[in-house]
Amino acid sequence: MTLKTIEWKDNSVIMIDQTKLPNSLEYVTYTDYNDVATAIRNLVVRGAPAIGVSGAFGLALAALQSSAKEKDQLIQDLETAKKILFETRPTAINLIWGLEKIMRVTKGDKTVEQIRGSIIETAKQMAIDDIQINMSIGKNGSKLFNQNDTIMTHCNAGALATVGYGTALGVIRATKESGKNIKVIATETRPVQQGSRLTAFELKHDGIDVSLIPDTAVGYTMANDLVNGVIVGADRILRTGHVFNKIGTYQVATMAKKHNIPFYVAAPLSTFDLQSKPDDIIIEQRKASEVTGIGDKRTAPDGIDVINPAFDMTPPELISAIITENGVAKPPFQESIKELFAAN
Ligand code: MRU
Repeated sequence: MTLKTIEWKDNSVIMIDQTKLPNSLEYVTYTDYNDVATAIRNLVVRGAPAIGVSGAFGLALAALQSSAKEKDQLIQDLETAKKILFETRPTAINLIWGLEKIMRVTKGDKTVEQIRGSIIETAKQMAIDDIQINMSIGKNGSKLFNQNDTIMTHCNAGALATVGYGTALGVIRATKESGKNIKVIATETRPVQQGSRLTAFELKHDGIDVSLIPDTAVGYTMANDLVNGVIVGADRILRTGHVFNKIGTYQVATMAKKHNIPFYVAAPLSTFDLQSKPDDIIIEQRKASEVTGIGDKRTAPDGIDVINPAFDMTPPELISAIITENGVAKPPFQESIKELFAAN
């Protein structure tokens, strides 16, 4: 069994506390949507699909917390909760996708109790669908890798970044399940170390061969023919094929291009933003302390200025293919992404 990141049980949300990994596997239980918002902001739960479903469960808690007797009041309470949940993290589009999907449930001729029930059912279904979608992404992507390949991945786009199974790591799991012998190289992914803390942890947990490298060893491993392909997840993909993902993805993609190594992105259709242009996207800037220290240990002088963006943009010319539940889009992405959605 792969790890289950988020679950709805007895009118509460249970999540793995990812800030505690890899040292201990602990679960937290929330009954207040404000606590879910804080959990998203503080990376207790993180990864685009996982925060999309967390936002949906946050609204399900808000529906239960509301004392509204009238539909208008319930919708107003939900709008307040939606705003608080939305403002936690700006870059991954899955968060607003999840929140809006739940808000659509309030439409139509329903009583307050019916709306509460449908919101909970819809959020639970989103969690079930997430795993199924990841398994389809995995199946579609597994055809791109060969026996004995070593696959590099950056950040954590695994079970821990989703409800379960993962997107990029879902492809790795499916490749292994298809009978191919593969190895993984995981970057540590400074500054919050989702690669060493989370990807290394979950692949080891599942018995998949993984080696950890410092982020600075990407060029070395590629130049020394240690990598056959790269696969990462995404926080937002534009209709042009521009991919927003964890800081450092752009560097890895640039290196892969230089060494003629295929660079793949795996993501569900809920990660696509067909409206925005590259300059519209807000890149989350995080606190300086993530860079000035490692754990509790300070590694930089007091008062140093810090630039700490959480995400960067990889342009389409560096990407070999984008793997989704509806199939694999190849360049030119403007055309192939349109086809993915036409098939929906
Ligand atoms: O800051 P995080 O940990 O939420 O960033 C996560 C990533 O960038 C992942 O690679 C991305 O969300 C894809 S997750 C399937």
